[in-house]
Amino acid sequence: MNGINVAIVGVGNCACALIQGVEYYKDAKASDDLVGLSHPDFAGFHVRDIKFVAAFDVAEGKVGADLSDAIFANPNNVIRFADVPKMGINVEMGPVHDGVDDMLKALIKVSGESESDVAKILRDSGAEIVISLLPGSAEEATKFYAGASLEAGCAFINGAPIPIASDQEWSNKFKEKGLPLIGDDLQDQLGSTVLHRNLLQLLVARGVRVDKSYQLDVGGGAESLDSHYRGRMRKRGVKSSAISQDLPYDAPLVAGSSDFVPFMDNSRESYFYINGRQFGGAPIKIDIRMEVTDGPNAGPILMDAIRGAKLALKREIGGALESISAYGFKMPPTPTTMYRAERWVEEFLLGKRKL
Ligand SMILES: NC(=O)c1ccc[n+]([C@@H]2O[C@H](COP(=O)([O-])OP(=O)(O)OC[C@H]3O[C@@H](n4cnc5c(N)ncnc54)[C@H](O)[C@@H]3O)[C@@H](O)[C@H]2O)c1
Repeated sequence: MNGINVAIVGVGNCACALIQGVEYYKDAKASDDLVGLSHPDFAGFHVRDIKFVAAFDVAEGKVGADLSDAIFANPNNVIRFADVPKMGINVEMGPVHDGVDDMLKALIKVSGESESDVAKILRDSGAEIVISLLPGSAEEATKFYAGASLEAGCAFINGAPIPIASDQEWSNKFKEKGLPLIGDDLQDQLGSTVLHRNLLQLLVARGVRVDKSYQLDVGGGAESLDSHYRGRMRKRGVKSSAISQDLPYDAPLVAGSSDFVPFMDNSRESYFYINGRQFGGAPIKIDIRMEVTDGPNAGPILMDAIRGAKLALKREIGGALESISAYGFKMPPTPTTMYRAERWVEEFLLGKRKL
């Protein structure tokens, strides 16, 4: 009765981690000593309530495969942490649009299957929520799937740094149809943006004046290739603007992707540099290197966003959800600090905040 029917667009590394995560945490209890999952229950739903009912991709080896096999097909390179049984969901061929450019073709061979009718498949599958995990530069493709979700009457969650939830026109379209919209650009559970934002908040709270800071990423997933070559300036803009929310004054801040290193697989290394002044103007310098695995870092936030969208569907709320978007995404419709976003989510869950 409590199921949440989800369609996945883009069966890449994030989708792989999300699907494995639902299997891995299906019996998790809040009282368990859990690693990696803060909310086995969220918005009145358990992780196991998330059911996948449809999936779309364009890559040879993924299209036409059962979703449980497609998540481990090339070029996906997330660690395998759960055995996912056959799901009975055939990955459908979506329209390619700008999903695979010449650079990505080095990793992804586009399938020769004919395009499916996306809106019809969404309707026939009973999907309530579409979660879009397309490459970060796939602007036309993201817009296409947002449109298909509207047509099929589904809520839409946008993981890519393409303005959909943060775009007033799209938000209005979802509002008119009474459908929730969440995004844009996923913010990892413990990724470079969250760590950087928290470090800046800590320094501000301890009276340090931050004079300048940069943060650079290196990774080996297909998305690192896309964000290095095609989406570099877009990603840099989104990440730099997200961290600036947590500094109450202007300072030179740069955050972005700096390279693609194939042998790193799905791991990501992030370098942080902060330069500032403390008591009496004494200098303080911070250099940090963090290494994480990209896909699993997206899992908990995606699970929360799905369950937040379902709660909004139950409450018949349409348009961009500012609370869940600000909490789990780097480019939300209403940007704010990390702490305020968490408070907004608590208020939203309690019904004290509409969006
Ligand atoms: N932790 C994270 O991994 C993380 C963090 C922040 C944001 N994101 C965002 O999430 C998105 C997904 O990241 P990922 O690492 O899973 O990427 P990925 O490159 O591993 O997966 C993208 C998938 O989309 C498919 N695709 C391409 N064009 C398509 C089309 N037209 N229709 C359907 N499928 C198509 C590709 O074949 C691939 O399977 C990216 O936009 C990324 O910026 C991810």
